[in-house]
Amino acid sequence: MTRPNAERWGAVSQALHWLIVLMIFGLAVVGLTLDELPRTPSYFWVYTAHKSMGITVLALVLVRLAWRLYAGAPRPVPGTPGWQHATAVVTHVLLYAVMFAMPLSGWLYDSASGLRPFKLFGLLEMPKLVAPDEAIAATAHEIHEWGLYVLIVLVMVHAGAALYHHLFLGDATLARMLPRGWLRASAPAAPGKEP
Ligand code: HEM
Ligand code: HEM
Repeated sequence: MTRPNAERWGAVSQALHWLIVLMIFGLAVVGLTLDELPRTPSYFWVYTAHKSMGITVLALVLVRLAWRLYAGAPRPVPGTPGWQHATAVVTHVLLYAVMFAMPLSGWLYDSASGLRPFKLFGLLEMPKLVAPDEAIAATAHEIHEWGLYVLIVLVMVHAGAALYHHLFLGDATLARMLPRGWLRASAPAAPGKEP
């Protein structure tokens, strides 16, 4: 159903998880090519699209965190050792931190660089977070660049663990983050229960 229950993530948590994954992937690919693009009028279109989509991710992550705090999470998949659960919790907290750090550092970089204000999807002029400042711009740029590498490492651990649980342990860790019936866990979630 909509809220997570003891066994599975709910539809809202799942939709937000996978939508944000797709958007971050797109932003990272476009972000990395921004430097290489020829400075034609479409360059500025792509630049503003990157910024607008990035601010949208920030809004979605806020909604997601609020929903997570309100609606909760399923309990650990039965049989998960304590250290694995602790590692998953730490990884999730760090993933949230990077999901905030990426758009905020991008916005801070944009603000401190003294560029013209950009309009969110060409509609709403976004406020600047700080006055133009080279040192802040340089730091924000570093965070924006290094944030991606931190994210890549975290996602390798995180997605690797999810795939390991699904393929080698056969439990419901991955299946319960997907709509019911999309993926079957080979080991039962709990005696007599469907994952
Ligand atoms: C989750 C959100 C975001 C992700 C994953 C992301 C990712 C990236 C990546 C990977 C780069 C290339 C970094 C480099 O190697 O220099 C980049 C560049 C850039 N991003 Fe983002 N970004 C996000 C949000 C934003 C936002 C909200 C803004 C501004 C409001 C922004 C502004 C920029 C700018 C201006 C650059 C070009 C930096 C340069 O000139 O080197 N980004 N982004
Ligand atoms: C940008 C990439 C990703 C980010 C930022 C991310 C972030 C997160 C976060 C923060 C959670 C914890 C949910 C919460 O407590 O609110 C989570 C859960 C989960 N993620 Fe991801 N994720 C990403 C990519 C992936 C990928 C590629 C996979 C699968 C291959 C995946 C599989 C899962 C699963 C199965 C859970 C539920 C874990 C459990 O029930 O304990 N994630 N993700």
